Amino acid sequence: MRLRDVFIEALRELGIDCISTEIRRIVESKDPIQTMANYVIMGRADVCRGLKGYVFRINSCKNPAYVGKCKDPILRRDDLLERANFPYIVIDCSLFNLHSEKEKRKIVLQVQQSLGVVRKFMWDEMLVVTHKDLGFGLYYPSTSDFIRDRGLRRVILLDPNGDCIFKGQKADCYIVGGIVDKSGEKRGWTSKIRENLEKEGVDVESMRIELRGDVVGVPDRINTIVEIILRVVLDGEDVEVAVRSVQSNLVARWRLRKEIPKRTIRIDVKRPFRVVRKSEFENFKWLNLRKKDFYDVCSELGYLVLDDEWLERILRLSSYDGRRYIFKV
Ligand SMILES: C[S@@+](CC[C@H](N)C(=O)[O-])C[C@H]1O[C@@H](n2cnc3c(N)ncnc32)[C@H](O)[C@@H]1O
Repeated sequence: MRLRDVFIEALRELGIDCISTEIRRIVESKDPIQTMANYVIMGRADVCRGLKGYVFRINSCKNPAYVGKCKDPILRRDDLLERANFPYIVIDCSLFNLHSEKEKRKIVLQVQQSLGVVRKFMWDEMLVVTHKDLGFGLYYPSTSDFIRDRGLRRVILLDPNGDCIFKGQKADCYIVGGIVDKSGEKRGWTSKIRENLEKEGVDVESMRIELRGDVVGVPDRINTIVEIILRVVLDGEDVEVAVRSVQSNLVARWRLRKEIPKRTIRIDVKRPFRVVRKSEFENFKWLNLRKKDFYDVCSELGYLVLDDEWLERILRLSSYDGRRYIFKV
């Protein structure tokens, strides 16, 4: 359930069957109902009886309301807050200063994009950025203080080296590391966040997101991790579906590089060749791969992609010694 669903539920209970607004930003947004809910829960507008501006139908329009300002609102921030039971997303930037200037800029961009993601599902105040004020979401000087001050009980740290697999376990708060790792030199940094929290007396569970048994292929940008969590926890999406929905072709190629060697056949024709059946592409529908990605990765690894029929013919004409096919010319 996203904030928009909570909003619609509240309107239905008030007997409102259609909603309108004159606020341009709402009208022009991709999801006007979610944006309306955002305005109300942020206290920037209320729900009032009557019809004004653009109309967004829920059912018919016998009992209309509008999002804007009036003397006697029928729904306001506090009413919506009371109904909204959503988890916090904390981006822990305690390791921010250990990044290069270029990496720091990437963190800022990914945190900004995380706010965009959080707005699709919840609202700005549910994104908390700790240790470093990057100008997006709610700033808090430390993660442990935030958890203690808000009395949060179940806290999950998303960590590629986490103890167990994330399957959509519910929590009051999900922590994502404010880390950018382009060089691969920051392996294990997220676990440092957990160690530091434990030193400060805060217990967290650490979980890794896997795609078919491996973290390779799971996009590791901060905003994509936030989107996976929210799709799984709030929309009830399967982890694999959520990962695929945010997986770039580049990340899919990383995983293919790991998978494809297991699918090769060795054929010796004077010298050894590694061959891949053309139809293998169909076995990787669970990755966001285009045909081009498949051929590029095979060629990068020095594998020949052969038409299935041709390959079968070659294999029939070859001898097999338990390890490789030998084709005599
Ligand atoms: C670029 S990653 C940093 C990973 C870092 N190299 C490490 O080993 O800890 C940024 C953040 O995304 C989250 N993350 C990335 N991949 C993940 C995965 N497969 N499972 C869980 N969390 C992940 C973590 O919270 C991590 O701190």
